Amino acid sequence: MRKLAAGNWKMNGNAAALAELTALTEAHPAPACDMLICPPATLIAQAAWATKGTRLAIGGQDCHPKASGAHTGDISAAMLKDACASYVILGHSERRADHGETDELVLAKALAAVEAGLVPVVCLGETEAQRDAGQTLAVIGEQLAGSVPAGSTAATLVIAYEPVWAIGTGRTPTLDQIAEVHSFLRVSLMKQIGGEAAGVRLLYGGSVKPSNAAEIFAVGHVDGALVGGASLKAADFGAIVAAL
Ligand code: G3H
Repeated sequence: MRKLAAGNWKMNGNAAALAELTALTEAHPAPACDMLICPPATLIAQAAWATKGTRLAIGGQDCHPKASGAHTGDISAAMLKDACASYVILGHSERRADHGETDELVLAKALAAVEAGLVPVVCLGETEAQRDAGQTLAVIGEQLAGSVPAGSTAATLVIAYEPVWAIGTGRTPTLDQIAEVHSFLRVSLMKQIGGEAAGVRLLYGGSVKPSNAAEIFAVGHVDGALVGGASLKAADFGAIVAAL
């Protein structure tokens, strides 16, 4: 399987930051892994235009479950597709926390994304309190069962495991902890969608940076990364791409 280095710019970046994308594609014209950057919605069309013909895909950070209608301020999956996005991040813990997103809503968004021809990157992960209480696998199992569309295939699904306590903190789980969760994800996904699960890319996210990328990517069933802060600079993200 081709691994995936995905960057989530979150609520960062402006038109001037598109130069980072140009720098990235110039430095990595033929990367060994797939590359994806998800800028804020305001930049998606410009980013797609700026990277047209390169190996860098562009994605959204969220979408509405409906295709169109009276939903002020929202963006549909079809609109992302129309802006030349090819992926969309769904169920990020910041959306679950800031906007009360549930597994049910994430599932509806994922179905809408696939219907529109986008690949959903479904995020899940435990809080620190849940890990301390020994609930990590139970929480992740519930999120996976509740938010992944039945009938998903390797071509229509990416999963990102992001421990909430590792996001933007500089802290990461041990390699054994990452291995435990990713193995659990693979086995659970097999039960949910069958043999296609073998090809679904399982990303790790949470304080991935150039200095720890290689050791994390060497862990079994880690098929790439969802990178926040370190995706904002082409040099840092490029170093992570090179480690995959
Ligand atoms: O979507 C990305 C993750 O939330 C990770 O963010 O790399 O800044 O910790 P981070």
